[in-house]
Amino acid sequence: MISNTINEILNEQINKEFYSGYLYLSMSAHLKEIGLNGFAKWTRIQAKEEVEHGLKIFDYLINCNSFVTLKQIRMPEFEFEGILSIFNHIYEHEKCITKAIMTIAEKADEENDRTTLNFIDWFIAEQIEEEEAVKNIIKRLELFGEDKVALYLMDKELGEREN
Ligand code: FEO
Repeated sequence: MISNTINEILNEQINKEFYSGYLYLSMSAHLKEIGLNGFAKWTRIQAKEEVEHGLKIFDYLINCNSFVTLKQIRMPEFEFEGILSIFNHIYEHEKCITKAIMTIAEKADEENDRTTLNFIDWFIAEQIEEEEAVKNIIKRLELFGEDKVALYLMDKELGEREN
């Protein structure tokens, strides 16, 4: 049985995941506009993944006979300044999401809600992976982002992402 506190915080998280999807999509549109098609594809796939995260929580609440309350999704930013700043933005955003996931785990732990703790473990692992992947892109952009050939090759490489 999911408590009201856990229900509320999970519904908030659905909203955060869908917002993440919006943010990545907005970045994807911008990246496509400036001709970085590989980065655009990478962020578009990421957007889809975020929606899947939201749906995972949506299904969890329904499977637990709890309530889903979909809230308004705020408008994402749509003006960006350069590829490095976009990925720094992503990194900061993902760190906030990790914090939110950790708060869910803490609350579930306080309530001895083993089911939610078990469920949220997947998200903790996912956040570690996401932060690492983004940090890795940032490091490389910092190293040779000014070099147009290197940026071209990196764009090509990121465009190979399939899921
Ligand atoms: Fe679903 Fe990027 O966190």
